[in-house]
Amino acid sequence: MNRILKWTSALVAFALTASWLSNHSWRHPSGLVGSQKVIYATYLSNPSEYVNYTLSEFHQSRDPYFDAARILTYQVLHAPETRTRLDIELVIFVHENVDQHKKDRLRRDGAHLIEWSDFSVDWVRPKDARWTHIMTKLRLWQMVQYDLILFLDVDTILTRPLDDIFNAPEIQPQAPILSQSHYHEVDVPLPPSYLLLGLPQLRTNHSALPSRVPEDFWDWETINSGFMVLKPSLEIFRYFESVLKIVDSFDGSIGDQSVINHVFSPLGPMPWKHINLSWNIQWPWAEDIHTGGYASFHEKWWAPMHWETNAYFRAWYWRMVGYYDSI
Ligand SMILES: *[C@@H]1O[C@H](CO)[C@@H](O)[C@H](O)[C@H]1NC(C)=O
Ligand SMILES: *[C@@H]1O[C@H](CO)[C@@H](O)[C@H](O)[C@H]1NC(C)=O
Ligand SMILES: *[C@@H]1O[C@H](CO)[C@@H](O)[C@H](O)[C@H]1NC(C)=O
Ligand SMILES: *[C@@H]1O[C@H](CO)[C@@H](O)[C@H](O)[C@H]1NC(C)=O
Repeated sequence: MNRILKWTSALVAFALTASWLSNHSWRHPSGLVGSQKVIYATYLSNPSEYVNYTLSEFHQSRDPYFDAARILTYQVLHAPETRTRLDIELVIFVHENVDQHKKDRLRRDGAHLIEWSDFSVDWVRPKDARWTHIMTKLRLWQMVQYDLILFLDVDTILTRPLDDIFNAPEIQPQAPILSQSHYHEVDVPLPPSYLLLGLPQLRTNHSALPSRVPEDFWDWETINSGFMVLKPSLEIFRYFESVLKIVDSFDGSIGDQSVINHVFSPLGPMPWKHINLSWNIQWPWAEDIHTGGYASFHEKWWAPMHWETNAYFRAWYWRMVGYYDSI
């Protein structure tokens, strides 16, 4: 009996040690997946118009996008059910117009901030005022200090860690389909390889658990620039600049998303690739939230499309406030 006990405790001790070792020593150094330097990233600019949103009798917000950045920071770095298990950094790219006190707050919340100067092109005028500084988002491709970026629009809410996306089978750099690109009679050099994965743009009136193509989607070929895995590349940024030199050469009414769809079109030299639809859904129904199994939602926490999801999103806001107020 005694011997069995001894052997059992030895085994338990061994299992615990092995488990501790596997949790600590054998883990990748922080921010690396394989040998790749990967980050979570989002983008914040100051609102182009201020509206007061009443959140409760105690609280209101004039900049719900800033609050959204704080929620995302809380979710990626701290919330037990959604935080990164691989110590992947959350980088918030902030437009130069963002107020100092907001930048200080986001740093205290744990995010790494990198400031971007404005990037805009006269003839590309997003149709919506709140997208005034959206073209600056194209600077993502200049961030070559990183190998791979999971970019999330700031109005994203996670339901679980997204770390596994960096090991998704679809993540493989590709060579452009053509070796030369002529754009309106101009030769535009292509990069040796590129990587852009994402999800097709949904329609605002999509059904729950959307799967109908094309009814639920804009079409199957328009990427939504609010959720992307991409490899930064200076060649691609230069490619954007070359294309943008040709005034009115495409419809720029959705800003960065127009440019990205133009450059990574399935009809062009560098088609973007689809990633599993379960990673993200925009404008979720309650059914999508409770039974859809989605890893993240692209929705305005302060003004969701479907009123019955309001409490779900507000709850994340209050959890964030509670967390930071208590530490
Ligand atoms: C190792 O990590 C797992 C998952 O995070 C955890 O459940 C387990 O308790 C950890 N084991 C030890 C010994 O720290
Ligand atoms: C919003 O609230 C602030 C502070 O209470 C106030 O100064 C400002 O005038 C309000 N703005 C609008 C557009 O109502
Ligand atoms: C959704 O909107 C599109 C475009 O406005 C329309 O063609 C389509 O019929 C609508 N779908 C449903 C299910 O209402
Ligand atoms: C997408 O992901 C879901 C959930 O993880 C999985 O059940 C499904 O098989 C995946 N689809 C494809 C095409 O890989």
